[in-house]
Amino acid sequence: MDVLAFIDEQVKAIRQAVGSDTALVALSGGVDSSTVAVLGHRALGDRLDCLYIDDGLMRKNEGPMVQGAFANLGIKVRILDATERFFAALKGQVDAEAKRKAFRDTFYKTLGDAVSSSGAVWMLQGTIAADVIETQKGIKTQHNILEQIGIDPLSKYGLRILEPIRTLFKYQVREVARALGLPPEISERQPFPGPGLATRILGEVTPERVATVREAQAIVEEELAPFSPFQCLAVLFDDRATGIREGQRELGQIIAVRAVNSQDAMTASVVQLPWDVLVRLQQRICAEVPGVTKVLYDLTPKPPSTIEYI
Ligand code: XMP
Repeated sequence: MDVLAFIDEQVKAIRQAVGSDTALVALSGGVDSSTVAVLGHRALGDRLDCLYIDDGLMRKNEGPMVQGAFANLGIKVRILDATERFFAALKGQVDAEAKRKAFRDTFYKTLGDAVSSSGAVWMLQGTIAADVIETQKGIKTQHNILEQIGIDPLSKYGLRILEPIRTLFKYQVREVARALGLPPEISERQPFPGPGLATRILGEVTPERVATVREAQAIVEEELAPFSPFQCLAVLFDDRATGIREGQRELGQIIAVRAVNSQDAMTASVVQLPWDVLVRLQQRICAEVPGVTKVLYDLTPKPPSTIEYI
């Protein structure tokens, strides 16, 4: 791929589609949406509204990190607190696909409202090739797929959507991100799914359960950073297991740790972590994440497993 020619083409295509109107980009801080935000900013300058939706499902310190990284690039990011709306939509939902659909519907309704209140006509979105392929194969409904599965974003949510990187795979998006001058903490960042920590919770997604998995996720990322996995995650199980704390029986939470290598997220192999690293993960998670008494390491490649748990 000729990266510079790709950037040039996409900047021109965005300018041509948007004309003299304005556009909005929903930025999560991941490499895909960040790349699209910079492409959009090159094309439209201040006519692009960069919005970070705080859905309550993000990693630790995500909002300020994204705002800071973009401020260094001269791009202003606005934060919208939609936490309550997302938790209300997810309340009582336990089925994997039902949770994905509830997330997607809330995400686009929130965006539809943001677009109409900001006066933007277009929305730029960081859909990539793997998202489309996985959803079309019927494996799981990725949060950002609409038209490809027969949902018209204009009539359903009032959104006109542009997807400048929908033909690229993750490693190609990283090449574009580097060429656009995004800092390594974004261009080399692990993929993080749109529905955020909700994909790492089996059973109901509540603020308390998100807090548990968020804490464990931060430990996993910190401990596994030296291995540069394609993706590493902490997952909270729906069941509990009998444990012991200070000599007393404790029905504790179960956390699974997953670390995989992959090029395009379509297949993935498990990272062979040294035993002492696995032991440290177990010790830290049980000591630092309230209520956890069991930590597992997931040995399953993709396929037969998928990378996320829902
Ligand atoms: P799976 O779990 O299908 O994930 O093996 C493949 C890659 O896609 C990410 N993923 C998502 N990304 N919206 C996204 O933007 C989603 O709904 C979504 N679901 C999974 C996942 O983190 C992995 O990198």
